[in-house]
Parts: sequence; structure tokens; C-alpha cells
Amino acid sequence: AIERTFSIVKPDAVARDLIGKVYSRFESAGLKIVASKMIHMTKEQAEGFYGEHKERPFFPNLVEFMTSGPVMVQVLEGDNAIAKNREIMGATNPAEAAAGTIRHDFAKSIDANSVHGSDAPASAAREIAYFFEESEIFSR
Ligand code: CMP
Repeated sequence: AIERTFSIVKPDAVARDLIGKVYSRFESAGLKIVASKMIHMTKEQAEGFYGEHKERPFFPNLVEFMTSGPVMVQVLEGDNAIAKNREIMGATNPAEAAAGTIRHDFAKSIDANSVHGSDAPASAAREIAYFFEESEIFSR
């Protein structure tokens, strides 16, 4: 089925001028970029976005990293988009990511892992709505 998923090109990848290379992976996989913008998250925005991880030991680091520079946020749309995006991103820890995945090819560490992607339909809907109005999304 056609789905939407939410994606972030994280500060490490933006800083290394990898936006185009990452976007190219999405489009080559049949994931259409139907909304996109560059933002620099505030601490409050990052804490709210990652609220489910609030009690995890890595939470302070995660918020620090995600607010360390600008990111690209985007909505990807396509057949089975949530799972497909997770497949092309590869494992959360780049050291464990399969060859040919975004994290294997570009990411440096489990924190600076270049991309975020929603893990399920409910989180995709929540995450899209966190950053985009419906009027900013252009299905086609
Ligand atoms: P992301 O998909 O953005 O969601 C939470 C992020 O926390 C994750 O990617 C990682 O970059 C980061 N993180 C750091 N340490 C861990 C860990 N031990 N387990 C999961 N995520 C971690």
C-alpha cells in the first residue's frame, strides 16, 4: 500500500554535504520526496520529538547532537514506504548496517548515524504532523 513516512537527514550528513546523495537514495528506491525543509531544531523541539526515549541513557546526547546544526526534514511517500525507508537506511548502528545502506555508506557512529526514519504507521503520522502542515505536503 502507498504510505507516508517521516525522515530526517541528521546534522552530521548535512555538515558533510550529503543531502543530495541521501535524497538520491530515496528517489532511486521509489520513495518520492513530497515535503522537505531545512530546520535547526531547538532543544524543546528535539526533546518533544524524541519524547519516547526520555528515560534512555543516550537521551541527553541525542538531543545535544540533533540540535548541533541544521537538518533536513522530509516526508517520503511510496509503496510500503515505512519499511522500505528503514531497509535503505540500514541498522541504527552503522557498524552493523548492511553494505549499500545509507548508514553503512555515510554514517560515523550510532549517534551521528546520518538519517532518521519512522518505525511504524503511528509514529510516522505523529512525526509528520510534528513538523509539517498537511498543506505543505505534495503527494503526486
Ligand atoms: P533515531 O532513529 O533518530 O532514533 C533515536 C536515536 O538515538 C537513534 O536514531 C540513534 O542515533 C540514537 N542512539 C544512540 N544510542 C542509541 C542506542 N543505544 N539505541 C538506539 N538508539 C540510539
